[in-house]
Amino acid sequence: MRRALTGIKPSGTIHLGNWLGALGPAVALQQEFETFYFVADLHALTSMTDRDRLVALSREVAASFLALGLDPERSVLFRQSAVPEVCELAWILGCAMPAGQMERMHAVKAAKEGGLEVNVGTWYYPVLMSADILLYDSAVVPVGQDQRQHVELARDLAEKLNHRYGEGSLVVPEVLVRETVGTVPGLDGRKMSKSYGNQIDLWQPAARLKKQVMRIVTDSKGVDEPKDPDTCPVFLLYRAVASPAEVAALARRYTAGGMGYGEAKLALFEVLERQLETPRQRFEEWMAHPARLDEVLADGARRARIAAQTTIERVRARAGLR
Ligand code: ADP
Ligand code: TRP
Repeated sequence: MRRALTGIKPSGTIHLGNWLGALGPAVALQQEFETFYFVADLHALTSMTDRDRLVALSREVAASFLALGLDPERSVLFRQSAVPEVCELAWILGCAMPAGQMERMHAVKAAKEGGLEVNVGTWYYPVLMSADILLYDSAVVPVGQDQRQHVELARDLAEKLNHRYGEGSLVVPEVLVRETVGTVPGLDGRKMSKSYGNQIDLWQPAARLKKQVMRIVTDSKGVDEPKDPDTCPVFLLYRAVASPAEVAALARRYTAGGMGYGEAKLALFEVLERQLETPRQRFEEWMAHPARLDEVLADGARRARIAAQTTIERVRARAGLR
């Protein structure tokens, strides 16, 4: 079975965009691949200084994977920082990365745009991500469009090291960009993102979820007027979660007129609740038992480390680090 690997950065509360765009599709890959999924806590450190928040958000990411159906027997779920070999490989890869390329990387641009400090960690971010990928001999790396460039860097670095130290030093990975869901809109119609403060949190109680859904911004068309489904964030969210028959039915009601946005929002809430009720219970169950969660992560780290040590030994020997 080919190995698929991806990481989620614990830098904010999980929202619908993370679920539909990243976690959900990642969990679905379990059937087809040997899956390695990790909480990218070292990456979060480039912008996170609050220790307790980092611990809490890391647990939240792990519990989210499990609540959405990740099977810890079949998949390897771990914290990035539990496998220190990744830092060693990152150093070796960094010595093959031209410094002039750093400024152009997405991580640096995103930090600048977000008004965040650009520290040396931000610069090293894409190299560490390459190490994540190459340390586990990953064949495919599912990511969102914004991360494509980083996976391409991992490919380049693998090829460079294979050239430098001999073929077979590192596996050259393939990028798998998820295009099906597209961009999930937030409360204000822009891309849902924690940096815009327009997110709908995934794991809040039903009553709060309903309140947030009712706050989605729509235009001022009255109940009787026909409405355009394709530009309405309520409809776009509905389309991402409802069945094809439900989507077609709601689209007809939009164009016919006679339905207010309040009613559409309620329909959206009901579908969300139908899909999230059981995962939410599982999420709460995991969060209420941190020791159990830590056990799953420790077992994942143990298995990940076996794979990591094989790779790092091979690279060390070839690089002359003996
Ligand atoms: P945020 O934009 O809130 O900071 P992240 O960049 O941490 O979210 O996203 C983690 C993952 O979730 C990314 O791989 C990305 O593909 C996915 N994702 C985030 N927001 C959305 C969205 N609005 N639509 C689709 N996928 C998203
Ligand atoms: N940088 C990725 C993001 O922000 C998270 C990540 C870290 C990752 N290491 C990875 C994704 C390795 C795929 C493979 O979304």
